[in-house]
Amino acid sequence: MILETERLYLRELTEADFDSLCEILQDKETMYAYEGAFSDYEVREWLDRQIFRYHQWNFGLWAVILKENNKLIGQCGLTMQPWKESEVLEIGYLFNRAYWHKGFATEAARACKKYAFEVLQAEEVCSIIRDTNIPSQNVALRNEMVKTDAWIKHYKGVDMPHDRYVAQR
Ligand SMILES: CC(C)(COP(=O)(O)OP(=O)(O)OC[C@H]1O[C@@H](n2cnc3c(N)ncnc32)[C@H](O)[C@@H]1OP(=O)(O)O)[C@@H](O)C(=O)NCCC(=O)NCCS
Repeated sequence: MILETERLYLRELTEADFDSLCEILQDKETMYAYEGAFSDYEVREWLDRQIFRYHQWNFGLWAVILKENNKLIGQCGLTMQPWKESEVLEIGYLFNRAYWHKGFATEAARACKKYAFEVLQAEEVCSIIRDTNIPSQNVALRNEMVKTDAWIKHYKGVDMPHDRYVAQR
């Protein structure tokens, strides 16, 4: 286990999580900020990328498990992301739609911020969010981050304006 909160715990993803990840990454509504649902191949790539990150950085997007039923209800964690000319430490989150609107994403994101400052000793951590993604922006605001700068990311052939929400140690 990496982190524990009141209702959740976070652990590394494993190959055995493939089906639970498909429930999230193959849901069209959940994936709108990523220009659509993932194929099986893209889910596999995504999972392998997290496992690679654990080896490279010792952190990545982690599985979020609901204590109450031991189910994988989402992903939340820390990754290095390109931002303008550099790489920044980011808190990311993506949850199963059946578990939205219960405060789980905020609860997990807050724990990741604490981990970034206390365990990784980071000076700064951020969330990079598409300008149209209001629920995600609200999680960043509840995580006491402040909108600091903007950049256009190019993904799947689309120009996507993104904002960066930042918290300092
Ligand atoms: C981003 C995402 C995780 C946010 O989910 P969310 O359910 O809106 O956020 P939370 O889990 O923090 O829940 C907050 C809501 O729960 C409510 N809530 C209920 N019980 C709560 C509790 N005990 N504690 C806190 N909030 C609670 C809050 O009032 C808030 O309500 P609202 O949705 O009406 O504003 C979700 O929309 C998602 O997975 N989106 C797709 C992936 C994505 O875009 N990721 C971000 C890429 S940058």
